[in-house]
Amino acid sequence: MAGMLLINLAYALAAVLFIFGLKMLSSPATARRGNLVSGVGMLIAVVATLFHAQVITWQEIAIGGVAGTVVGVYAARRVAMTGMPEMVALFNGFGGLASLLVGWAALFAPTDTFTLTTIALSILIGGVTFTGSVVAWAKLSEIISGKPTLFAGQRVVNALLLAAIVVTSVLFCLHPQSTAWLILLIVLSFLLGVMAVIPIGGADMPVVISLLNSYSGLAACAAGFAISNMILIVAGALVGASGIILTQIMCKAMNRSLANVLFSGFGAVTAGGEKIEGETRPITHEDAYYILEAASSVVIVPGYGMAVAQAQHAVKELQQLLEKNGAEVVYAIHPVAGRMPGHMNVLLAEADVSYDLLLEMDEINPRLENFDVAIVIGANDVVNPAARESKTSPIYGMPIIDVDKARTVFVLKRSMASGFAGIDNPLFFKPNTRMLFGDAKESITQLIRQFK
Ligand code: TAP
Repeated sequence: MAGMLLINLAYALAAVLFIFGLKMLSSPATARRGNLVSGVGMLIAVVATLFHAQVITWQEIAIGGVAGTVVGVYAARRVAMTGMPEMVALFNGFGGLASLLVGWAALFAPTDTFTLTTIALSILIGGVTFTGSVVAWAKLSEIISGKPTLFAGQRVVNALLLAAIVVTSVLFCLHPQSTAWLILLIVLSFLLGVMAVIPIGGADMPVVISLLNSYSGLAACAAGFAISNMILIVAGALVGASGIILTQIMCKAMNRSLANVLFSGFGAVTAGGEKIEGETRPITHEDAYYILEAASSVVIVPGYGMAVAQAQHAVKELQQLLEKNGAEVVYAIHPVAGRMPGHMNVLLAEADVSYDLLLEMDEINPRLENFDVAIVIGANDVVNPAARESKTSPIYGMPIIDVDKARTVFVLKRSMASGFAGIDNPLFFKPNTRMLFGDAKESITQLIRQFK
């Protein structure tokens, strides 16, 4: 009795640490500590669970713990920053699978209708999360094509699948001792996960991953009810809620609804938009240096290309040289720049760029026309003025960083290739834009050399 009280107290402490950890994750200045605080919360929760009287075998728990730690540490150390979304996808997937297994295991104890319902839910949501995440991972790692997979009658097939899942779930709850319904429910939920993610294009995978993250939380929450474990319910609810909030933020930043992301097959057809006429004006490193040397205010706008080139340290060095030269330098961060939420913040933090120099879109846009130079480093879609100017553009209405309003714009990229949305960018043809072609790190290193 006293033991159970202590365990519950430890769970409450863990829940408090999760909540404070989450809060701290919302600012780059406290994010690392937030991660640590949540981690300590999880450690307390795991240790408290091990004191539970219902623990049947220590040996298997130890084997599982060691195996998971080895794989987790190895994978986290090895993953490149650009591969983080794939890794998160796999983590979510295995979270879903774990909840499915917990739900299944709960069948071995006596069950009532409520418990059976929560078991069915943890199996269903966990299964969908597992295969959905694996498909998202495969699309992002280009193991399968990132294009939306669409076929005639897809919606009918999905509706039938959903109906079959509802019927199977009811039959499973009515006949919990029959393995057939259990297996069928698992198979159908696996199938639903695949069917839900294949029609979504690779460009939308970060949103899907965030949504699947939310699902993995809901699955854990259902599993928590199935085994009456308070901390699993709380942690699952927190993951479920934060995942859906993040999904919402991303959709808003792209000016699209969640339904549009999930069902429109965005990227299946070659994107539309007006054909752009005109000429681009390439610039040499030397000429770019002369303009920068004379600038008194510079805004740096990073995008996915900065991550690919791993140019963040060089960017920081250029920032310091510009500041030494008397210029004010700030960074403009678009909420969906790169390939995952906070991608640019993480890279710039790695290069020790001060957080107060990072300005969000709403802060920087009204000030952009006062800047002498905007340096766009491997960003494309998030600075595409077609979102503002061209009603036929697929990204029309998406909020962008209005770099074209700065007096001079340098665009650092390797070619005229389009960005993730696959559409042309009129910015490259504007009279105040100069293209500095080449790998971003290489170009910035050249500029640094000129300064020195
Ligand atoms: P993108 O529009 O994808 O453009 C990146 C640009 O970087 C490319 O045009 C590419 O041009 C250039 N690049 C690649 N490697 C480079 C290198 N080594 N050196 C220099 N340039 C390089 O990136 P963005 O502006 O950051 O926009 C992000 C896109 O992802 C948006 O469409 C957004 O909606 C989508 N998205 C993001 C998220 C999150 S959470 N971040 C979520 C969902 C969707 P070259 O090939 O010519 O070099």
